[in-house]
Amino acid sequence: MESSELKKIIQGIPKAELHLHIEGSFEPELMFEIAKRNNITLDYDSVASLKKAYKFNNLQEFLDLYYIGAQVLLHEQDFYDLTWAYLKKVHSQNVVHVEVFFDPQTHTDRGIPFEVVINGIYKALEKAKDELNISYKLIMSYLRHLSEEEAFKTLESSLPFKHWIDGVGLDSSEKGNPPSKFTKVFKASADEGYKLVAHAGEEGPAEYIWEALDVLHVQRIDHGNRCLDDAVLVQRLIQEKIGLTLCPLSNIALKVIQKMQDHPVLKMLDKGILATIHSDDPAYFGGYMNENYYETAKALNLNKHHLMQLAINAFEVSWLDPETKEKHISEVQNYFSALSS
Ligand code: HPA
Ligand code: ZN
Repeated sequence: MESSELKKIIQGIPKAELHLHIEGSFEPELMFEIAKRNNITLDYDSVASLKKAYKFNNLQEFLDLYYIGAQVLLHEQDFYDLTWAYLKKVHSQNVVHVEVFFDPQTHTDRGIPFEVVINGIYKALEKAKDELNISYKLIMSYLRHLSEEEAFKTLESSLPFKHWIDGVGLDSSEKGNPPSKFTKVFKASADEGYKLVAHAGEEGPAEYIWEALDVLHVQRIDHGNRCLDDAVLVQRLIQEKIGLTLCPLSNIALKVIQKMQDHPVLKMLDKGILATIHSDDPAYFGGYMNENYYETAKALNLNKHHLMQLAINAFEVSWLDPETKEKHISEVQNYFSALSS
């Protein structure tokens, strides 16, 4: 397929984004603007010099910069502007449903109240629902480099806002911080009615994916690249229809894979795993949903059927109700039928 045709097809697909850290959508231009109005001096003298620093050898090198960037966010308006900018951007890419992560501890540990963070994010999500027709779910993520006790404090702080939060996740430094470290707080989160997901098998081993499933009882795995190391695990993922939210440009940027041709998503689709594609931290990794689809499709020579399957899988493993899922899946199918006729 020609590049321009491929781009046009991808643009037109109604898409769901299920793996997006709102703090990772903080574009340098907006970061400078908010820093200025908050009287914060960044360590970089221009957008260009900040962008130059976006070179990572692993997850930790990225996280170090990502947490520094987030320090610019102080007020409800800042969280609102951050979230609204993301939603406008993905609306332009025909994303119709989002499930967004936020990291409360990144902010509460700096003295920003939980409610300041969530009010800003929530108001932007509601506006997007009304004005852009984007549906959403909100996922609060525990930072796995911190203790389980600290995650419990975050759970506690979230309870007044329970009606705005759909689930909990687990992110940050994976190696050395296995899912089992958070067994009790995931159980307590489920008892509060939260749905469960966890990052696993990005840099960590397949064993962490087993733990996320068997010990934390998550419904979906974020990344999950390493599942292909374990044939029994692959069968389990297929049988239980566990979705994997893969992030190809993130995997390249963090050197989880060396080149896009090595990305496991095609092998996963061929095996019948419910693999999906998302952007993770688009401001840091060089692309939003369309760019992730495009770079993957180009490198792996994906055909229209693969693209359709990726889009359908995302709705399938989303947290939308069954009728809304069906509606979106039909729209994807109709879109591809119209293309081939
Ligand atoms: N992995 C783990 N933690 C993260 C990521 C990621 O890709 N992005 C933001 N927090
Ligand atoms: Zn992530």
